[in-house]
Amino acid sequence: MFESVQPAAPDPIFGLTKLFRADSNPEKINLAAGIYQDNFGKTPALECVQQAVRRIADRAVDRQYLPIDGNSRYNEAIAEVLLGADHPAIADQRYCTIQTLGGTSALKVAADTIFSLFGKKKIWFSDPTWGNHLHIFGSAGHETDSYPWIDQSRTALDFDRLTESLNQIPSGDVIVLHGCCHNPTGVDPTPEQWKTIKEIVQQRGLLTIFDIAYQGFAESLEADASIIRQFCESSDDLMICNSFSKNFSLYNERVGGLTITSGNSQICQNILSHVKRSVRGNYSNPPHQGAAIVAEVLADEQLKSLWVSELETMRSRIIEMRAAFYKRMSELLPNADFSFVIAQRGMFSFTGLNPDQVDRLRDQYSIYLLKSGRINLAGLSNDNVERVCKAIASVAN
Ligand code: LMR
Repeated sequence: MFESVQPAAPDPIFGLTKLFRADSNPEKINLAAGIYQDNFGKTPALECVQQAVRRIADRAVDRQYLPIDGNSRYNEAIAEVLLGADHPAIADQRYCTIQTLGGTSALKVAADTIFSLFGKKKIWFSDPTWGNHLHIFGSAGHETDSYPWIDQSRTALDFDRLTESLNQIPSGDVIVLHGCCHNPTGVDPTPEQWKTIKEIVQQRGLLTIFDIAYQGFAESLEADASIIRQFCESSDDLMICNSFSKNFSLYNERVGGLTITSGNSQICQNILSHVKRSVRGNYSNPPHQGAAIVAEVLADEQLKSLWVSELETMRSRIIEMRAAFYKRMSELLPNADFSFVIAQRGMFSFTGLNPDQVDRLRDQYSIYLLKSGRINLAGLSNDNVERVCKAIASVAN
């Protein structure tokens, strides 16, 4: 059976990381995967995480399975980070949260649950979106389609085309929205634009799934979740897939969650029973360590405020790198307008580079970015920004 199998294409993001690791150029720069690096190109454990790990290590660990829905302290903490402790959905208990293996399995469990309850659905994504979205929902048996996101410059929101397209999505379809720090473009709607998007989506009766993997990387934990909080003020059904990989810098612990809000507590419990069946059919139950670390941090005021300030440090460094990149590119290519890099939010920006230019950056300069031209600004540092800008200017000419 296996003899005739041809190799699959490498993953567009992890495949590049593999190539990067194999590159022997000491000056290589990885701007591909969405991973935060400090000014020395490292992704060290946050101090709040190290303290939490030490505390956990001092306790006796129970080695039994976790429940299917995971660590309950962790799940309660997720809901508070996403919705805010005093959100009416929490007060009314019209939500449920499960621990998942990063944001990716939150999406997969959401996709499988929708399929098991309602059959094959059409799922709408922004064009472009995180490439894995289509893979996850497609492999769960759904049909995927897209609504426009960026304009012809590929650096700003095309709000008119977006709203026109949303207005035509049939009622009962499913829409996936990026809660903040749109991946891959870095282009987020303004609060006013979000209001309109919300009205259309709710008027049309679309089931909304929020993917929020970068909470805290645009403005603050609170501001970045504000559109999600507004969506679940009404009793409409909502699925929220979150990740702590980036904002806790816990990439290799697979820390995420799926939160569902709806009209009342009973509906949520009913849905939760099906979500748990999906988990059981995927990975049975989640692992202990990552969720225990996050729960420990979020349960302790001192560790939590340390986390918030460490997250602020990461965010500020990325914003500084955006400014440095913009300044140097504007000097090197004075006729080109790079101001979009300042306006975009989170780790990513679309540079406007085409696939051929991206290949030249990799082959000639050992600088790695995605074929789409997406750059991870968190991979820039005071030391490498000059080299990156000069290389981009040379391939852009
Ligand atoms: C990315 O977009 O680079 C990250 O979300 C990493 C991943 O899993 O693709």
